[in-house]
Amino acid sequence: MTHRPLTVAVVGATGVVGRTMIAVLREREFPIGELRLLASGRSAGAVVDVGGERIVVREAVADAFDGVDIALFSAGTEVSLELAPQAAARGATVIDNSNAWRMEPGIPLVVSQVNPDDLATHEGIIANPNCSTMQLVPLLMALRDTAGIDRVVVDTYQAVSGTGAEAIAELEAQILAHAQGTPKLANVYPHPIGFNALPEIDVFLDNGYTREEWKVLTESRKILHLPDLRLSCTAVRVPVLMSHSEAVHVETTRSITPEAAREAFAAIPGVIVRDDPQAHVYPLATEAAGRDEIFVGRVRQDQSVERGIAFWVVSDNVRKGAATNAVEIAEILVDRGWVAAASRRGAGVGDADRSAV
Ligand SMILES: NC(=O)c1ccc[n+]([C@@H]2O[C@H](COP(=O)([O-])OP(=O)(O)OC[C@H]3O[C@@H](n4cnc5c(N)ncnc54)[C@H](OP(=O)(O)O)[C@@H]3O)[C@@H](O)[C@H]2O)c1
Repeated sequence: MTHRPLTVAVVGATGVVGRTMIAVLREREFPIGELRLLASGRSAGAVVDVGGERIVVREAVADAFDGVDIALFSAGTEVSLELAPQAAARGATVIDNSNAWRMEPGIPLVVSQVNPDDLATHEGIIANPNCSTMQLVPLLMALRDTAGIDRVVVDTYQAVSGTGAEAIAELEAQILAHAQGTPKLANVYPHPIGFNALPEIDVFLDNGYTREEWKVLTESRKILHLPDLRLSCTAVRVPVLMSHSEAVHVETTRSITPEAAREAFAAIPGVIVRDDPQAHVYPLATEAAGRDEIFVGRVRQDQSVERGIAFWVVSDNVRKGAATNAVEIAEILVDRGWVAAASRRGAGVGDADRSAV
């Protein structure tokens, strides 16, 4: 199907995720008529070169969404809470990267390979999961569908790019300070991240988990349609620039061999199995960086339980973990005629006519 070019807004266009969204939209030749770049008032008037076209950044205010078909939000929770409903009220469909709407009943929380059908009923706001959840759930889906899942334990090793541009600069400055023998100043994190591992991502909750860990638990249950799934998570920030790594232990309902698990993982679109430990082949953060796929390896039987599989999963947190999945959602909306909110599409009729030329 060919589609009429859409007006697409990127909110947070000057940030780490926003800039990657612009790149991914171009790489995948998303049908864009007008690309509107929005950020805070601080960046208003800045000029961004997008494939030779010079686009002036505008301040993200409600009026900026007039005429927008799809708005990719990546400017933090406060901005999403305030502006996403206003953008949706103006007819835009928001795909939101923040934590603002993910657990809201009725708002689809979607990983493109796992639950695209959940998009059918959207009412103008769609949530993109947290990056740590994003790379985990396609693999859990494969195990859910082959062996059933009883319990999951996941420990994350998360890159500083997950915090944004300031955190990348802070790690680089601390590495330089180490080389020069000067003090490592910490502003973004409570301790120096250089040469460290910080078991604190986002705020601590009353139950002892951090909010990042809680997001992995609650978001996974929603995306997998397994509301009672037992999960636990420890989320750790490590001095890696790009790509999150995760050690995952899954207790399955029925027995599954590592060979069968690898086969099930390899069958998922966008998942690559890299698993030859004797040759030192397993997923690496540096190799996943800049890629859209999720890499899995070290697949083995978890010998501490009766039926268990353990594995190591790595993905670029800014691409599949944020920008790429958001653009994949937009592509699904276009392909299925679901760009407009369900109630605006009319009974049983997609917006294919609206989108098609
Ligand atoms: N990095 C990741 O791996 C990742 C993954 C998933 C989700 N996310 C989420 O994506 C969002 C952005 O992350 P990031 O890493 O791109 O952060 P970032 O590099 O710090 O960029 C933040 C962006 O938000 C804009 N912004 C800040 N305040 C604003 C306001 N009041 N109004 C409009 N725009 C405003 C900034 O514009 P100015 O340049 O004008 O300040 C900038 O474009 C966060 O919600 C984050 O949780 C990030």
